[in-house]
Amino acid sequence: MVEFALPKNSRITVGKTWPKPQGATNVRAFRIYRWDPDSGENPRVDTYYLDLDDCGPMVLDAIIKIKNEIDPTLTFRRSCREGICGSCAMNIDGINTLACTYGLDEIKGDVKIYPLPHMPVIKDLVPDLTHWYAQHASIKPYLQTATPAPATEWRQSIEDREKLDGLYECVMCACCSTSCPSYWWNGDRYLGPATLLHAYRWIIDSRDEATGERLDDLEDPFRLYRCHTIMNCAKTCPKGLNPAKAIAEIKKMLVERQL
Ligand code: SF4
Ligand code: SF4
Ligand code: FES
Repeated sequence: MVEFALPKNSRITVGKTWPKPQGATNVRAFRIYRWDPDSGENPRVDTYYLDLDDCGPMVLDAIIKIKNEIDPTLTFRRSCREGICGSCAMNIDGINTLACTYGLDEIKGDVKIYPLPHMPVIKDLVPDLTHWYAQHASIKPYLQTATPAPATEWRQSIEDREKLDGLYECVMCACCSTSCPSYWWNGDRYLGPATLLHAYRWIIDSRDEATGERLDDLEDPFRLYRCHTIMNCAKTCPKGLNPAKAIAEIKKMLVERQL
């Protein structure tokens, strides 16, 4: 068997290897990033083995099984287990995705699981998304109107409602932002793909009456213009959305309003 090795000079260490399940014939290794801030130790990668004949089909099934049956200290977020809440986002086999919708059969060999990249880690697979959520809040992701509210509801034509398709489905998982090189290097000031997708969702909502202010707010070399159309965001989005396209549409609107 080839020993699991980390890159030379890695500050991540090789951690504990847990025993293989006895009598199992369909065994898979799970190499999982572990870090406990209270321990004062460097991060490590622990190895667990599961019998895939006795495990659900998704990566989330596997890590829940590890937590329930092998190591209760393994820490991760999850809630809906059906791709709706966005909380189980992590880096699986080198891809930012949702553990609950990513099938074990899509992975060849060992299953390598890390937290979303380039984010501070709270513990194990749990990234600190405080700054990311604050950026989302900064674009005022809610309907803004000046005219008095109608007696029943704000009406929208079927055509205008369709303009929100491909935008409203975002589950706020942060897979896109944490796969974006521009966000890695300038995330303190660049809003990143997820927040900009939401910004566009409100800019083109026919019921919203703050379009001009929203565009003014984005006309900034860092908040918007750090996107260099690298497209990692669209490639990784587990919901099949295209934040890069939304960003390009915002840029186009900013140009058009000057003509
Ligand atoms: S297209 Fe823009 S937002 Fe998407 S990954 Fe590239 S730089 Fe980031
Ligand atoms: S656009 Fe996709 S990858 Fe980005 S936060 Fe929304 S669902 Fe997640
Ligand atoms: S657990 Fe909700 S998206 Fe995975």
